[in-house]
Amino acid sequence: MAHLAVAGGQPLRQTPFPPWPVWDQEEVAAVRAVVESGRWGAQQGTEVRGFEAEFAAYQEAADGIAVTNGTVALKLALTAAGVGVGDEVIMPGYTFVATATAALEIGAVPVFADIDPDTYTLDPVSTAACITPRTRAILPVHLGGRPADMDAIMALAQRHGLVVIEDAAQAWGASWQGRKAGTLGHVAGFSFQSSKNITAGEGGIILTNDAAIGALARSLSNCGRQPDGLWYAHYVLGGNYRLSELHGAILRVQLRRYPPQLARRQANAAYLEQALSEVAGMTTLRQDERVTSNAYHILFLRYYREAFGGASRERFLAAIRAEGIDAMHAGYSLPVYRQPALRAKNFGLATPPLFSGVYPEMPDYSQVAWPVTDRACDAEALWVRHNVLLGERQDMDDIVAAIDKIQRYSDELQE
Ligand SMILES: Cc1ncc(COP(=O)(O)O)c(C=O)c1O
Repeated sequence: MAHLAVAGGQPLRQTPFPPWPVWDQEEVAAVRAVVESGRWGAQQGTEVRGFEAEFAAYQEAADGIAVTNGTVALKLALTAAGVGVGDEVIMPGYTFVATATAALEIGAVPVFADIDPDTYTLDPVSTAACITPRTRAILPVHLGGRPADMDAIMALAQRHGLVVIEDAAQAWGASWQGRKAGTLGHVAGFSFQSSKNITAGEGGIILTNDAAIGALARSLSNCGRQPDGLWYAHYVLGGNYRLSELHGAILRVQLRRYPPQLARRQANAAYLEQALSEVAGMTTLRQDERVTSNAYHILFLRYYREAFGGASRERFLAAIRAEGIDAMHAGYSLPVYRQPALRAKNFGLATPPLFSGVYPEMPDYSQVAWPVTDRACDAEALWVRHNVLLGERQDMDDIVAAIDKIQRYSDELQE
């Protein structure tokens, strides 16, 4: 008789993991109050301004500019930091596509470096090897809420006169050597899209300690206006990237709820990582005491098929889902440099300056291959979702028990 549920045996678990988003009547009341106030735009109300101040304070940054989403936050952060047409921006290939499209949309050129196999964040050695006379910026991603090696990245940037834009889309409350994400580089972009640990369905924010960058980012997000200018006077080529009061109101509630959630995710992650360190064929990322707070948007595991009878990661995932553990997935299945749009240089009209002689020729991304990034996408990475980490100890134990069960009966994994 089969033991594994995927082969016809009994599933290990029947109950679902905690859902996401987490909300209650506080969000409802906050939205209702905005609706009833009639002040739906940030120019009239106090919610967006309040959230900007509160989130910047939480991240210990001087200035916060709320915008429509994380992609826009990165695009405006890049522009405000002086990155523009034909400038090369070094970034990891193991990230959401928006890290690269934010650069492409302003006519800058993404250059991909590899990631560190033990942290899944930008590898400083690979980054250094990518620097050319055209490099203007480094765009490290605090992937899954784990800060990149900002000591090495900032030292490299300083040596070469580069600006550093943090992709902190997943890094609310994260810190490196006691300093919060968003204050480690020159400017940063965060996301509040629906999957994120703080969310209003959509939303983003730019954080910076640099007053000039902050002022320009705010102007860019508000149609090029200036604080002391006329409403219909526009001083730079900006757009309307403002967030609404409805979003601001929800985000303020979500931020108030966040610190205990973060602590719970961190406690469950520590427990799960410890338990899984004893399971063969599954490793966690490196513990690094310089990561003083990991936001655990994603808890990463590395899967080694040899320990599971040669079963592919996808087969393992089918098996664990069949056990009733809908807690994991494979994450990014393509490095950004293998995305069809980049391979085909299918940039539409978004970056016409790229084709007007400012930059000699776009890189041929089909020639880019980085071993660690490719392996993470193709076979190795497993992502545990952040909502799972809001569960009870029993939930963590069930994950470990399911992995252990699949390994014990891995002969049943034959496809
Ligand atoms: C690493 C990373 N960068 C950028 C973004 C873009 O954020 P948004 O979806 O809010 O535009 C996201 C989120 O989707 C992300 O995870």
